[in-house]
Amino acid sequence: MSSSSSSAAAAAGGLTPSILLLLAVFLSLFPPSLSQKSCTLDTFSQNRLYSLCNSLPQLSANLHWTYHPQNSTVDVAYRAPQTSDGWIAWALNPTGAGMDGAQTIFAFHDSRNAMTAVSSPITFANPTVKNSSLSFKVYSMSSEFISDTMIIYAIIELPRNRTKVNHVWQASNIFTNGLPSGHATTGPNMHSSLTLDFLSGQSSVSVNSGLRRKNIHGVLNSVSWGILMPLGAIVARYMRVFGSADPAWFYLHVACQCSAYIVGVAGWGTGLKLGSDSKGITYSSHRNIGITLFCLATLQVFALLLRPNKDHKYRLYWNVYHHAIGYTVIILSIVNIFKGFDILDPDRRWKNTYVAIIATLGGIAVVLEAVTWSIVLKRRRSGGSDKPYRSSNGTVGVNSYA
Ligand code: HEM
Ligand SMILES: *[C@@H]1O[C@H](CO)[C@@H](O)[C@H](O)[C@H]1NC(C)=O
Ligand SMILES: *[C@@H]1O[C@H](CO)[C@@H](O)[C@H](O)[C@H]1NC(C)=O
Ligand SMILES: *[C@@H]1O[C@H](CO)[C@@H](O)[C@H](O)[C@H]1NC(C)=O
Ligand SMILES: *[C@@H]1O[C@H](CO)[C@@H](O)[C@H](O)[C@H]1NC(C)=O
Repeated sequence: MSSSSSSAAAAAGGLTPSILLLLAVFLSLFPPSLSQKSCTLDTFSQNRLYSLCNSLPQLSANLHWTYHPQNSTVDVAYRAPQTSDGWIAWALNPTGAGMDGAQTIFAFHDSRNAMTAVSSPITFANPTVKNSSLSFKVYSMSSEFISDTMIIYAIIELPRNRTKVNHVWQASNIFTNGLPSGHATTGPNMHSSLTLDFLSGQSSVSVNSGLRRKNIHGVLNSVSWGILMPLGAIVARYMRVFGSADPAWFYLHVACQCSAYIVGVAGWGTGLKLGSDSKGITYSSHRNIGITLFCLATLQVFALLLRPNKDHKYRLYWNVYHHAIGYTVIILSIVNIFKGFDILDPDRRWKNTYVAIIATLGGIAVVLEAVTWSIVLKRRRSGGSDKPYRSSNGTVGVNSYA
């Protein structure tokens, strides 16, 4: 009896270290996945089940969800430890990252001490909670308080059917007039935002200032390369037809192209910076076209200084060269702007706006081309110069290169 119990104890004594060793080996094999997936232990009332979950890196919060591709909705449950006098919040930010613009669902105890869920968009400029609708559909939302944990349940429509969305979450005890009104602005409360793919469950860091910088990059480049440059070309090609506008077109053209070049180089610089900051991701064709554009446009600006006199025998070659590079730059610019739209994927109206502008410029060019040729043909018939761009009395402004 005593021997068997002692042998059992000896066996246990021998087993425990080896089990521990095995466990240690096992743990060391899977440390991140084990620690990341503590959310799998969560359970919910009414037997609610979710197909995926993430343990969020701040505020001990967990997010659970089921994605329905058929209607592009997600059922989510966000839970975080909280005392009964506090609030929790979970938000998608479809237009940025972090809190600014977050489409938020709050949960807290209302004035009658009942748990309530309230939706409200918030921005840095106006973080007041208003109980108003969000930028996407919320089919249902409710909340729960169980043993110092608050939970938000919601069924929402993913904005623009994007599964990869920036989300942000928060927990705090600060209220004003019974509504959430602020949180700690240090530590984990400042880092509670990520990009989440509801399809794969993959999470990645969303850079807050990144989107703003990308937008600046997009605006600078579309305005300069995408609008000013073609406008300058239209000025050069069509204003010349009218003799009275003779020196004027040249100055307008130079002003257009030089300001486009300056703004464009600034935009190009922001692009290089974005590229070097986003290690691991390269959009090679967008980048290469951008670099080519910079080289061609720089060449174009410096070629101005080497422009032969209008009577020089090489002036014709210079003109051919200048036109060829000019049109190449415009075509490449437009191509690259559309590549940029695809990468940045901003709200559709930005792309639509650009398409409208470039289509208008194209339409104007077509009309002016027709007008130009009718003028030229008329001049030919009346025995005038058959060069489309020469002034009506044959003299040309000093700066003109026609
Ligand atoms: C309810 C009223 C709220 C007020 C008055 C408020 C106020 C602030 C302030 C003053 C900052 C610091 C800004 C800075 O120093 O750069 C901040 C940052 C932040 N807030 Fe709020 N906040 C509110 C609600 C929320 C909610 C509901 C969330 C999440 C759903 C949230 C998430 C964040 C995050 C993640 C940051 C860090 C910066 C960022 O990523 O945008 N806040 N908030
Ligand atoms: C979305 O589709 C899923 C699966 O087909 C369905 O269970 C759910 O009720 C739908 N949700 C909405 C809001 O239509
Ligand atoms: C949303 O996207 C998914 C995956 O790309 C697709 O299968 C689904 O049909 C889309 N749903 C809607 C409502 O557009
Ligand atoms: C929020 O507004 C809805 C109606 O728009 C109302 O039914 C609900 O009680 C409001 N909640 C709070 C907390 O004010
Ligand atoms: C035509 O030539 C005269 C000088 O001969 C010049 O003053 C004038 O600006 C030219 N252009 C037009 C459109 O008359």
